[in-house]
Amino acid sequence: MKKKLSQNPKLIFPDSLKQKLTLRSKEGALRSLRTTNPQLTDFSSNDYLGFSNNGLISDFAQDKLQAYSSQLHGATGSRLLTGNYDMIEDFESYLKNYYKTEAVTVFNSGYDANLGLLSSVGQRLDLILFDELSHASIRDGIALSKAKAYKFQHNNLEDLEQKLTRFKDQFETIYVITEHVFSMDGDYADVEAIVKLCERFGVYLILDEAHSVGTISRKGCDHFDGKLFARIITFGKSFGSHGAAVLGANELKQYLINFAKSFIYTTAPSVGTTARNWAAHLYLEANSTDFEALRSNVEYFQKHIKANQLSGFFIESQSAIQSCVIGGNENVKLISKQLKVNGFDVRPILSPTVPKGKERLRFCLHSYNIKEEIEAALHSLANHLIEKENE
Ligand SMILES: Cc1ncc(COP(=O)(O)O)c(C=O)c1O
Repeated sequence: MKKKLSQNPKLIFPDSLKQKLTLRSKEGALRSLRTTNPQLTDFSSNDYLGFSNNGLISDFAQDKLQAYSSQLHGATGSRLLTGNYDMIEDFESYLKNYYKTEAVTVFNSGYDANLGLLSSVGQRLDLILFDELSHASIRDGIALSKAKAYKFQHNNLEDLEQKLTRFKDQFETIYVITEHVFSMDGDYADVEAIVKLCERFGVYLILDEAHSVGTISRKGCDHFDGKLFARIITFGKSFGSHGAAVLGANELKQYLINFAKSFIYTTAPSVGTTARNWAAHLYLEANSTDFEALRSNVEYFQKHIKANQLSGFFIESQSAIQSCVIGGNENVKLISKQLKVNGFDVRPILSPTVPKGKERLRFCLHSYNIKEEIEAALHSLANHLIEKENE
């Protein structure tokens, strides 16, 4: 009989970490994993165009795998060792044309791309200015860099200009980073104005296009390429897959291959993933139907925000992300649960992911949502909010 190992609970999980979990729980912000119920209407996933479940894209991907006679699933190593294969190189070349840029570097995820890019470019005498609502991957990349960093007020170009004026002579190189469509508020940065401002001050602009490609345009900000130091495109959202790319000059690619640790010290994306990402781009390039269906649903959703007198709750947004700010972790969790009972999957976004008081329900719209679902979801939401107010 096997002897049972005696466990010392203190050595299995430290008290200091337990306390952090207890605090999270007290704040009503303890996260847990749950699987997605496919019976519910999806107002939550980032699969904006339904590409994750698109049979034609699967066929295109299969064609790519056959064309390259690929027998391997895994990449077998990092890109700098055995993990660089013909298909990934050809995919990067294809993306150069698709996004009208000079060079493309594929990463395993958008998180990895931002981490690798920002941590490697920021040097000791540099400054990074970032929008205060920037995604965690941007903040983490900045935290790992050697540069000094300050946030500027959300989408506030006057504040950015003031900071550029104040700091322009104090640092060797200044980088500005913002998102095109913001992941939590769904609003847009005025890219044209930021490009002009950065040009005027001679500073380097980085644009995260994770939530804008496929949702507000099919090719993102390709018309600004050449004016931007770097663009980040992700494949896990509109492309329904996984991975990301950093776009920019040839020197940027050379730099990332040499210095971005999240590119260097990780296994390259699998052959299957690359085939899928390529197929999803080919599909989006050839078809505008899903994109147009999504745009029409965004318009319809906005019409029904007004019809249900919910404008005061929603952050003004023309994108696929429509956020209804309710405030309070418990309040948003409750209304999300009520909507679930009504058949709608709308996830609560809690603090500390968003600031306290700005807790919200984030509706993500899709090409495949139908008009009746949109009407019914907003009608239910309005009723639950009225019930809450009358409590
Ligand atoms: C603005 C932004 N950038 C980057 C990422 C990370 O992308 P990925 O999910 O591919 O890691 C996200 C993910 O939500 C995001 O919202």
